[in-house]
Amino acid sequence: MSLMNNLSDSDPIIADAILRELKRQEEGVELIPSENYTTKAVLQATGSIFTNKYSEGYPKKRYYGGNEIVDEVEILAIERAKELFGAEHANVQPYSGSPANQAVFFALLNLKDNFLGFNLTSGGHLTHGSHVNFSGKNYTCISYDVDKETEMIDMDVVRKLAIQEKPKMIISGLTAYSRAIDFKAFQEIAEEVDAYHLADISHIAGLVVGGAHQNPVPYADVVTTTTHKSLRGPRGAIILTKLEDRLHDLYHPDSKKNLAQLIDSAVFPGLQGGPHDNVNAAKAVAFNDALKPEFKTYAHQIVKNAKTLADELMSHGIKLVTNGTDNHLILIDMRPHGLTGEGKLIQNALDEAAITVNKNTVPYDPASPFNPSGIRLGTPAITSRGMKESEMGVIAKGLADVINSKGDLEVAKKVKSTILELTKQFPLYPGLSILG
Ligand SMILES: Cc1ncc(COP(=O)(O)O)c(C=O)c1O
Repeated sequence: MSLMNNLSDSDPIIADAILRELKRQEEGVELIPSENYTTKAVLQATGSIFTNKYSEGYPKKRYYGGNEIVDEVEILAIERAKELFGAEHANVQPYSGSPANQAVFFALLNLKDNFLGFNLTSGGHLTHGSHVNFSGKNYTCISYDVDKETEMIDMDVVRKLAIQEKPKMIISGLTAYSRAIDFKAFQEIAEEVDAYHLADISHIAGLVVGGAHQNPVPYADVVTTTTHKSLRGPRGAIILTKLEDRLHDLYHPDSKKNLAQLIDSAVFPGLQGGPHDNVNAAKAVAFNDALKPEFKTYAHQIVKNAKTLADELMSHGIKLVTNGTDNHLILIDMRPHGLTGEGKLIQNALDEAAITVNKNTVPYDPASPFNPSGIRLGTPAITSRGMKESEMGVIAKGLADVINSKGDLEVAKKVKSTILELTKQFPLYPGLSILG
């Protein structure tokens, strides 16, 4: 592009930050379960000239001119999303996971209406009813927790709570829960009590489309998902819905809209203005990738890696919440290691070892969310990098050494050298010209 300056010329400070961040991502082992390394194609589409365009509205119904090509791209993203998940309707415009969930509340509930959500401290998301979030402040959340003994969701408890409280909506889905979710059972409960069922598969969407986790789309009224995380696309979200509003006569008797139309008008003009067309182009690219057979292999490898990492950690005496995993995610409970409330200390020590994780509460954690007693791990990013079961042993040993030493920085330094040796064998973005 001869008419414009490259980033390194126009803003060397930001250019340098990008290069240093690339080095950090290349050298380290990325275990944050909501993160991934997206493809060069997705990066290109996200950084494309579609960022220049404004296109409020929906394909063929825009409020701005010049949208012929944007329409083609958004229609393609919609059609690919529908095919990928087997959905009747897809809205690809939500800016991210939280706005997507907000749109569902806005479409289906009135202020103060009650709903059932998975407690943050048991593994749910902020938008599932936390008291500091719009969902807990504007609506009445009744939380369900995991069982104290098994640390798993007990569907009999969820059902009893639903019958007792008669919520208008039930949310299923996870942020820090390592076990399979029975979306069909959630739907049956929702139907029994005349509640909408929102399944938020932000974390596990990649597993769902790869056939490594039950797909809620045939059951749930509405499904939201981020497009980053295990789906490996750009930062963003989509909402998948059924067309028919099963509860129309009960909750929206005066509306002429079906369920898909209720959701669409909540996204735009209800909550958002113009969609991010560059990101929507990148979503289309990611959906195309996820439709390929290789993505199924990737999804199953994520789970195999997580199960192997979990087994290896336990063989080093590390305590895991639920003693294992069914998905991409592992939650370490550090209380038996004498590290109650020391999640931050261990996260920081692991940073020194070039292993990136995040501190997290464990179920019934006596410590605060800022200094919790758990560490959350996941395998989507390392699996994208090509790591398999045989690499999990090295990573588990590094994690265990740091935890068992209670975050000793000398131990972390030693671990770092083995991690740098490992990551060197799995180059990230070879040949990528990020400042070009
Ligand atoms: C289950 C779930 N829903 C929604 C979100 C929110 O997504 P975002 O951070 O893109 O707003 C997250 C993010 O971690 C999540 O885990």
